[in-house]
Amino acid sequence: MVRNWVEEASRDSFKRRARIEGFRSRAAYKLLEANRKFKLIKHGDIVVELGAWPGGMTQAASRLVGETGLVIAVDIRKFKEFNEPNIITIQSDILEEDTLQKILDTLNGKLVDVVISDASPHLTGIRDIDTSKQIELTEKSYEISLELLKKRGSIMLKAFECDELRILEERVKSSFSYFKRFIPSATRKTSSELYLIGMSRL
Ligand SMILES: C[S@@+](CC[C@H](N)C(=O)[O-])C[C@H]1O[C@@H](n2cnc3c(N)ncnc32)[C@H](O)[C@@H]1O
Repeated sequence: MVRNWVEEASRDSFKRRARIEGFRSRAAYKLLEANRKFKLIKHGDIVVELGAWPGGMTQAASRLVGETGLVIAVDIRKFKEFNEPNIITIQSDILEEDTLQKILDTLNGKLVDVVISDASPHLTGIRDIDTSKQIELTEKSYEISLELLKKRGSIMLKAFECDELRILEERVKSSFSYFKRFIPSATRKTSSELYLIGMSRL
């Protein structure tokens, strides 16, 4: 009971802060915290975010890359237009094969410094269904990231704790010099959400 109350208060405070600081969602703070810890995104970088609606993380990434950088935000849902000039949106399903081509067309031959995936399914509350849909999105995000990333580029991919995750983690470890699991402070304590961080692609 006390824990629930503390949890609610903390979520509300992130939501309030997001409103005051002009972020569309409290997810922005998950990326900002990860960036303080791992220095994933630098000024001038090109960032692709998969599963980006409504766009809190996208806005945080936009501030981190600055006016010389670019953020491409992809989601199956239609975005409300952003005021930030360094954000481009693509409305597309990342599980569909043509989404990668749409991103590549937007990049026009350039490679990407960082791929973030915050994609997650509409949760049913049935653990097996939710984790199998999540691992599908996380694996697809990982495959897309390998097609887009520069050598030495980095990833931050949302995942849920499950057995299949171990296999994906081994793949990430073999393609990146540095690997870590990360659970942001803004993630609910009751959630099995975590992020796979891979840095310096080999
Ligand atoms: C947790 S929300 C993302 C929050 C966002 N990163 C932010 O900062 O506001 C998860 C998103 O994943 C998207 N999503 C789920 N399945 C998808 C798919 N197959 N293709 C693209 N986006 C998907 C959902 O539409 C939803 O907007």
